[in-house]
Amino acid sequence: MLALLRVTVMLIAIVSPGPAVAQPGNATRGLALLTNFRDSLPANSGNALRCVSCHLENGTRGRAMPWTGSSSRYPRFRSRPGYDETIEQRINECVARSLAGRMLREDSREMRDMVAYIATLDALPRADRVDTVKLVGSAPRGRSGYAKSCARCHGDAGQGLRAVAPAVWGGGSFSIGAGMARQYTLATFLKHNMPFDGSDTLSAQRAADIAAYVLSRARQDHPGKERDWPRGDPPADVAYATTAARRAGKPMPPPRPLLRRRVSPDSLTQ
Ligand code: HEC
Ligand code: HEC
Repeated sequence: MLALLRVTVMLIAIVSPGPAVAQPGNATRGLALLTNFRDSLPANSGNALRCVSCHLENGTRGRAMPWTGSSSRYPRFRSRPGYDETIEQRINECVARSLAGRMLREDSREMRDMVAYIATLDALPRADRVDTVKLVGSAPRGRSGYAKSCARCHGDAGQGLRAVAPAVWGGGSFSIGAGMARQYTLATFLKHNMPFDGSDTLSAQRAADIAAYVLSRARQDHPGKERDWPRGDPPADVAYATTAARRAGKPMPPPRPLLRRRVSPDSLTQ
C-alpha cells in the first residue's frame, strides 16, 4: 500500500508541470473583466460598479480618468500610499476602494489580463489634462440639483436603477476610500461626463454642489484609510481624517456617514 502511494506521488511529480511561468496576459479577456467585473469575479467585488462605470468608453474617454498612457506611467511614487507603486498595485487600489472589493493576487491571470488590456491603450494619443473643479460645494443646493439632473438614472435614493445606471451612494456605491469620494475628483468627473446623455452642461458650481450632496450620503467604509498619505500631505478635499495629517496639526475633515464594509479589501494571498 505504502509502495503504491509512493509510486503515485512520483508519477504526479513527473506529470505535473513545474512552477508556473508567468505568461503575458490576454487583453481580450482583460477587457471582459473590466466591463463585467462583478459577474466574473464575484468574490472580489463589493458593490454594483464595474471598472468602466467610471473609466468610461473602456478607459479611452479623455475626460473620465483615461487609461491611455497608464502602463508607461507606472511604477511611480504616489502620495496616498506613500511609496512607488506598480500598475498592479494601482489597479488593486481601485478594486479595494472604488469597487469596495477584495484585492487580486498581483500575479494572478486576471490581473495580468487587465494589465494587458490597459497596455494596448498606450498606442492611443494621450488625453489633455482636465481642469479640476476646485470650488466649495453646498450640499443643500446640490440636493435639488441631484433631483433635477441625476435621479432619473441613478435613483431618488442614489441606489442606481437596474440596466440604466449604478448606485452613487449606499451599499452599492464606491467606498469612502475611493478617489471618487473626494469632492474635487467627483465634481470634475460630473462636470465633464454627467448627465450621461448631456455632458458638459453642468456649471462648475453646480457640479461642486451635486458632488457635495452625493458625498454627504452614507457609503461603505474603507478599513485602514487613516494610514493614507503617510507623509501628512493629504489633498484639500480629503474625505476622512488621517493619522499623519493629525500628527502634523492639519485641520481634520468632518466625519461622514459610513456603512459597514461588506468585503474585506485584504489581498487573497495574505
Ligand atoms: C468609482 C469610480 C472608479 C471605479 C469603479 C474604478 N476606478 Fe480606477 N480610478 C478612479 C479614479 C478617480 C482614479 C484617479 C484618477 C487620477 O488620478 O486622476 C482612478 C485611477 C485608476 C488607475 C490609474 C490611472 C493612471 O494613469 O494613473 C488605474 C490603472 C485604474 N484606476 C484602474 C481601475 C480598474 C482596473 C478598475 C476596476 C477594477 C477601476 N479602476 C475602477 C475611479 C474609479
Ligand atoms: C441618462 C442617464 C444618466 C444621468 C442623467 C446621469 N448619469 Fe451618471 N452614469 C450613467 C451611466 C450610464 C454611467 C456609467 C455606468 C456604467 O457604464 O456602468 C454613469 C456613471 C456615473 C458615475 C460613476 C459610477 C458610479 O455610479 O459611481 C457617477 C459618480 C455618476 N454617474 C454620477 C452622476 C450624477 C451625480 C449625475 C447628475 C449630475 C448623473 N450621474 C447623471 C447615467 C446617467
